[in-house]
Amino acid sequence: STEHKIDSLLSIMTIEEKVGQMNQLNGFWDATGPVPKEGSAETKYEDLKNGWVGAMLNVRGVKQVKALQKVAVEQTRLGIPLLFGYDVIHGYKTISPIPLAEASSWDLEIIEKSASIAAAEASSSGINWTFAPMVDISRDPRWGRVMEGAGEDPFLGSKIAIARVNGFQGTNLKATNTIAACAKHFAAYGFVESGKEYNSVDIGSSTLHNIVLPPFKAAVDTNVKTVMNSFNELNGIPVTASSYLQRDILKDQWNFNGFVVSDWASINELINWGIAKNKKEAAEIASKAGSDMDMEGSVYIKELSELVRNGIVPESIVDDAARRILRVKFELGLFDDPYKYCNLDNEKSTIYNPKYQEQVLDIAKKSIVLLKNENSILPLKKEKQHIAIIGPLANDKNSPLGSWRLASDDHSAVSVLEGMQEYTGNKLTFSKGVDLITEPTRFIKEVKINTIDTSGFSDAIEIAKIADVVVMVLGEHGYQSGEARSRTELNLPGLQQKLLEAIFKVNQNIVLVLNNGRPLAIPWAAANVPAIVEAWQLGSQTGNAVAQVLYGDYNPSGKLPITFPRHVGQIPIYYNYKNTGRPSNNNNNVFWSHYIDSSNSPLYPFGYGLSYTTFEYSNFNINGSTFKINDTIKVSVDITNTGICKGKEVVQLYIRDMVGSISRPVKELKGFELVDLKKGETKTVHFTLDKTQLGYFNNDGAFVVEPGDFKVFVGGNSLTSLEIKFELID
Ligand code: IFM
Repeated sequence: STEHKIDSLLSIMTIEEKVGQMNQLNGFWDATGPVPKEGSAETKYEDLKNGWVGAMLNVRGVKQVKALQKVAVEQTRLGIPLLFGYDVIHGYKTISPIPLAEASSWDLEIIEKSASIAAAEASSSGINWTFAPMVDISRDPRWGRVMEGAGEDPFLGSKIAIARVNGFQGTNLKATNTIAACAKHFAAYGFVESGKEYNSVDIGSSTLHNIVLPPFKAAVDTNVKTVMNSFNELNGIPVTASSYLQRDILKDQWNFNGFVVSDWASINELINWGIAKNKKEAAEIASKAGSDMDMEGSVYIKELSELVRNGIVPESIVDDAARRILRVKFELGLFDDPYKYCNLDNEKSTIYNPKYQEQVLDIAKKSIVLLKNENSILPLKKEKQHIAIIGPLANDKNSPLGSWRLASDDHSAVSVLEGMQEYTGNKLTFSKGVDLITEPTRFIKEVKINTIDTSGFSDAIEIAKIADVVVMVLGEHGYQSGEARSRTELNLPGLQQKLLEAIFKVNQNIVLVLNNGRPLAIPWAAANVPAIVEAWQLGSQTGNAVAQVLYGDYNPSGKLPITFPRHVGQIPIYYNYKNTGRPSNNNNNVFWSHYIDSSNSPLYPFGYGLSYTTFEYSNFNINGSTFKINDTIKVSVDITNTGICKGKEVVQLYIRDMVGSISRPVKELKGFELVDLKKGETKTVHFTLDKTQLGYFNNDGAFVVEPGDFKVFVGGNSLTSLEIKFELID
């Protein structure tokens, strides 16, 4: 068995060789973190030949991977193959929508498909391990990494985590087109204080267990092979040093048998956090806490063997970590064939295979959310209207690729302008109006925003004046979200709001197409612009997807996986909030939970999204009014397409536990289903509820199901009001 093979391998490994397995080195080009001063290419190569490297990252392409794998297999004493990790987050060469956009589809099948396309392309290029999916729940759109997750909800987040792990790993990890996945960042990274990157996290036990951990648990139950820890501290302990998270919960309670990789040099960062006084102490603390592999920190390789020899770190810790890492290598089939991902012909025929373009187009159009459509300005009328396309992102072929598109080719996306040209022929005019950024930008550089030059306004105003409809493509550059791209404002950056208002003065028939990596606070647009389409950053096929939706070839079906605030000051704002002791203005005086300068309500709630048709819910039924804890409760609702064309609705089911031993949210998503309906058609949707959905984690982290009153709600977004009561009894 695999375990016997690992036993015999471990029995002949030196301490250095075991520690070597725990060492991951960055390749010599793409850097996805601060580049260390020490550790030249030559010393890395020496380490590799000595068998002191277990994995690489940021090495890609069959030629490069094969060359390094050859050193590991042919030149080291034991010939143990390497893992090659890479951030294959939303595509490798063919780029899918950013993960937050994909989450807006609520379509688990296409989300799984997207991960499997990414796995196929990346594996053909030598990569056998992705640092994805990111399953961090976040309620803070200021945090740049909300683009990389599935939004604010643990139920939706868990379903998407499962889909993504299945997409990457497939059903057979030994196949050549599947790769090991990595659930990251364990844990609570999405709750960094003030949305500022790499910051402290202080959250209570209830939030940790009910909101943060469920998607990780779902990934572990789906057999995810690896987990990455996070840069933040949690209640005073940097998570790289947390044995509570990494050992007690992940490995002991959840029986996770893969390995934990640190984030980039997060072990070294224990010194900056003031948790370790030097690298030696950092290595001791992190290894004891269960961080199995050191990503690009070289702390383990320098310190850990001596710590073991001196009896400070038990050898069993190193044995366990090496065992976990070797297990993944065996499971991937690397010991049978270390070059299994290194086939040049396969690389050539797989990368940019046209079928992937078709598939990511399908994913992209299903990720679009229609936020507003007054007077049915959308869909546009093919070949009949004169369209002016305006905005700095309209003809951008780079920004729609989003963040985390390391391997993709620059400027390889179909721009919105290109996509629209397919439909409008010569009835289209274009003006950028204004620049969003002042210089071309790169992954590791800060984005510089234009706040001065309005010289393009006049051209844009001229073409807007004579157009039937103005399509304005505004938002954030792809590199304004993602790692280390926190923002304090959630407006349209730079001069875009000014441009929007200037155009509105001459032509109010505006369709605002948003390209952004996070929720935006755009109250003026929401109040004034007749149509708003949330198109996120949709990857390689952005323009075609947007055009298909604007022209009604695809009826938009996306729903927001994260709340849009009216104002930054409302953050954190999320649908599953607590009621408070003073939820409303019953006494008509000031003493209730509110703002004096804004409504409490979001601009657009979680779960929200319109269609070109309309849906009506009726016959909401439950199979009783009193249930025992072990019962399965059946709920059904009829949904009718009452509008003008076929369409798809995400039917959502929420509950409220009315009285709990700790306070319960006003609503919690517990089910959803995508329903396709022809014009006039009615379908019945069935849901079940049982104790796994009705219970919750108490402050000791124990799952409890408490008898009492519940409400169940159904509808097309989280503010839905169709409700039924029931009672749960012992
Ligand atoms: O996978 C990433 C992680 O999410 C952030 N730091 C760098 C890692 C490797 O590139």
